[in-house]
Amino acid sequence: MLDCIKIEDMNDKLEKALPASPQSGPYVVQVEEGREYRWCSCGLSANQPWCDGSHEGTPFEPIAFVAPLSAEFHMCGCKRSDNKPYCFGTCRGQHRTLDQR
Ligand code: FES
Repeated sequence: MLDCIKIEDMNDKLEKALPASPQSGPYVVQVEEGREYRWCSCGLSANQPWCDGSHEGTPFEPIAFVAPLSAEFHMCGCKRSDNKPYCFGTCRGQHRTLDQR
């Protein structure tokens, strides 16, 4: 007999899936105002912090990000930020709520 998993159990597993965490700390990148980027949420891209399509077949999808200005941005590298796609210090145990700044 084949080992099978019930569809509801599979959905539960997918909901709880954690992304890969390519680095602890942000990717510091220069972005151009008005340009759309696709931030990698699965952690598998070889072109971090941006999506290269490696998420295919995973429950993850890239997050669209339109740069509000031309500047250096700190994009989440651990993929667990509470403020995706930006680094929020989550990987360093420095999680803060907005009213604690
Ligand atoms: S490669 Fe990670 S979301 Fe696309």
